Amino acid sequence: MSNPSEAELIHMFKGIAFTTRSSPELLKSLDTFDAREDDVLLVSYPKSGTHWLAGVITKLYNTQVTLTSPIEFGDISKLEELNKLSSKRIIPTHLDYNMLPLNFKKKKCKMIYISRNPKDIAVSMYHYYRDNPNLPTIDTWTAFFDLFLRGDVVCGSWFDHFLSWEEHENDKNILFLFYEDMKKDLPKIVKEISLFLGLNVNDNDIQDICKKSSFSEMKSDTEKKNSDPSHTVCALTSNKKLIFRKGAVGDWKNHFTPKQNRRFEEVFNEKMKLSKM
Ligand code: A3P
Repeated sequence: MSNPSEAELIHMFKGIAFTTRSSPELLKSLDTFDAREDDVLLVSYPKSGTHWLAGVITKLYNTQVTLTSPIEFGDISKLEELNKLSSKRIIPTHLDYNMLPLNFKKKKCKMIYISRNPKDIAVSMYHYYRDNPNLPTIDTWTAFFDLFLRGDVVCGSWFDHFLSWEEHENDKNILFLFYEDMKKDLPKIVKEISLFLGLNVNDNDIQDICKKSSFSEMKSDTEKKNSDPSHTVCALTSNKKLIFRKGAVGDWKNHFTPKQNRRFEEVFNEKMKLSKM
């Protein structure tokens, strides 16, 4: 059987590439979504550490919470499905700020944005594309590097995504986190998250959560479970080996040539000139 064509896998919505797992009808209806004041959004550009953050957050609650699949994944029935959930909803999304359903903004729902060095994101995404039959075929790292810099990948340009959210960095209902900070001092970040969410978690619990959220624990944990795709952060694969790949900072150094690094820095400096990053 031949590989599916790019048109079967990808479609454009408001200038951004989405996989066909996000139906145009659903994307068009997002603004009608009924947010609840206690919804918590986990926001990220793909490959920034969303699963890691979701793993931490779901362990922080001792009441029942439901981790849904990303709000933009699925068909039009998705909104109804989320409406029916009776427990507190932890909702991931890769949408940029402008596309986020209006009701989340109006109700000032808590949102946690996780970011990561875009060079490591590019590398992580390259491996994800290469090994995932639900994404277009990529021949070489060089080809992917160009696509990434142009923003011709799912969820569009990393730069646009980051900048759209960075504008709201000081909004009281948004917490900004970095993958690299989680690697450096996870207990400190877990504490920060718990305070932001208004949860009372003691130091022993924090230590326990950090232990259970290590790369090796999370990787072996998900390999044991047969997860239901409607409750996973990444609805594009059931192969967890694609999600828990290396979990390291700086893997870009094993992929970028010096020339690619210079090119990346040029584009970064140009696009991010108004950013504080
Ligand atoms: P790598 O491909 O660089 O290994 P997302 O969840 O947003 O799709 O991001 C996936 C990236 O987060 C992958 O990066 C994955 O290995 C890393 N990751 C997942 N769980 C992690 C953990 N517990 N600790 C560190 N990194 C983790």
